[in-house]
Amino acid sequence: MDRQWWKEGIAYQVYVRSFKDSNKDGIGDIHGIIEKLDYLKDLGVNILYLNPINKSPNYDNGYDISDFRDIMDEFGTINDFYNLVSELHKRDMKLILDMVINHTSHLHPWFQESRKSKDNPYRDYYIWHPGKNGKPVNNWGSFFGGSAWEYDETTDEYYLHIFSKEQPDLNWKNEKVREEIKDMIKFWVDKGVDGFRFDAINHLAKDLTFPDGPINKGQVYGDFMSFIQNLPEGHEIIKDIRNSLFKDKNHVIIGETGNISFHNAYLYTGLDRNELDMTFHFDINGIGLGKDPWEKGSVDLAYFKKIISGWQMRDESEGWCPLFYSNHDSTRTVSRLGDDTAYWKESAKMLALLQFTQKGTPFIYYGDEIGMTNAWEFKLEDYRDIQVFNKYKDFVESGLVSEENYLLGLRNTSRDNSRTPMQWDKSSNSGFTVETPWINVNSNYKEINVKKQIEDASSILNFYKQLISLRKSNLALIYGDFNEIHREDKNVYSYMRTLEDSKFLIIANFFGEETDYLLPEDIEFENCELLLSNYDISDHNISSIRLNPYECRLYRLI
Ligand code: GLC
Ligand code: CA
Repeated sequence: MDRQWWKEGIAYQVYVRSFKDSNKDGIGDIHGIIEKLDYLKDLGVNILYLNPINKSPNYDNGYDISDFRDIMDEFGTINDFYNLVSELHKRDMKLILDMVINHTSHLHPWFQESRKSKDNPYRDYYIWHPGKNGKPVNNWGSFFGGSAWEYDETTDEYYLHIFSKEQPDLNWKNEKVREEIKDMIKFWVDKGVDGFRFDAINHLAKDLTFPDGPINKGQVYGDFMSFIQNLPEGHEIIKDIRNSLFKDKNHVIIGETGNISFHNAYLYTGLDRNELDMTFHFDINGIGLGKDPWEKGSVDLAYFKKIISGWQMRDESEGWCPLFYSNHDSTRTVSRLGDDTAYWKESAKMLALLQFTQKGTPFIYYGDEIGMTNAWEFKLEDYRDIQVFNKYKDFVESGLVSEENYLLGLRNTSRDNSRTPMQWDKSSNSGFTVETPWINVNSNYKEINVKKQIEDASSILNFYKQLISLRKSNLALIYGDFNEIHREDKNVYSYMRTLEDSKFLIIANFFGEETDYLLPEDIEFENCELLLSNYDISDHNISSIRLNPYECRLYRLI
């Protein structure tokens, strides 16, 4: 057992823009976070992970940085940042920052220089290429819609951007880029940051011969995945960052890696690899969708188990993993994986019980602890995400998808679903701001909010607190072996966690119908001590258990 603070901690992700506005401009800020630290401490959180806070023109809400060494104007000043670090450390809490190093903003001075002339010293900080017969370099489509190439008149060449055109990709082949970025990371390490989440980290290396990609069904552009991700040179870059800055292992370094297999994940986090400590994947973002993205489909538990248990069953030597069901790139947990109407409370608690009883570090996405839901009522003009508007061009303007279906699709898939303001109380704009918020508050804030749930012993929030304290006082829930039970069961997710004599049994009905559960033969019911459930269970004295809709139970085996 290799004990580490970042394995034993409870992390909480704050989308700063939407957490708490302290200066009445409708945008969350650092001072707002400081105001809420006691709330987080009381919940049991001891690691705070912030989405990007560096200076940015916000085409992609901070994922387009124009000054790596300064704070975004809307979020505050460097002094606010120092205060945050000291207030956190005072409370024995750690800070993880999001670092976007695959690309910068097009307004970053490096890019402004780079575009000036072909022999500018910063030209090779980015990836430039002449077009082909007046067209882009190849058929690659960017993640956010449109071509991955943008034409720039000044030098009559194109630059590569795998996200939006306001996010030109850095050229990691260039030694100077590597040195600049490492210096910059060191700058934040020296300011007391305890860890980093490196954005889009599996995209740093690219195939610079730029072959065309296959055009998949229903798509407009070529698929560039195999040319821009998980390339061997990318691993060399990450190893260099680890060796130059994080040899001591007191910091935690996490990578965001979309589209990785378990084998690739090992290549990033394997103990013999010396690269990252954990990776965030996107494997379960699509669960709950229908054939077409505008349809709401049903949750496929077999698939969920395959992914989630798959991560659990990796060998320890393959690395540690974060436990999360949502983040700022997905939709809301309870809306996607549970039922945000009839069994809202039960399903939110069931999902939390799974999250907090698995092996890894739990990351609570802000608002999930009160069961915040998708913004089903949003109209097209309520969305803010750049992706929504770029893809609108590809799909609606091109005639591939009707506007009505596009909107339905957004309600099921848009990242803005999980970026609405934190629901603190029932005052106007949910206590997030007294001004007009940058994005609408979910209209259900009077029913779903922190204040109400603090006062209700049976709330989702209080269930989280119980789970967190159970986890903190039982090492088996953190480090114990994971053994799945009844893998083939289509309704129930169940497993054991075992560390020496300490054993826990977890049972969760994943759906809105009652279902039966059979205790495994080697477990006697008399030996099961119920620690937590989302129902009041009086008759739990039988070996065949009838579970209520979304019922979950945590037993200690004695
Ligand atoms: C990552 C971020 C996402 C962002 C993108 C571009 O996927 O999580 O929010 O838009 O990178 O930086
Ligand atoms: Ca503000």
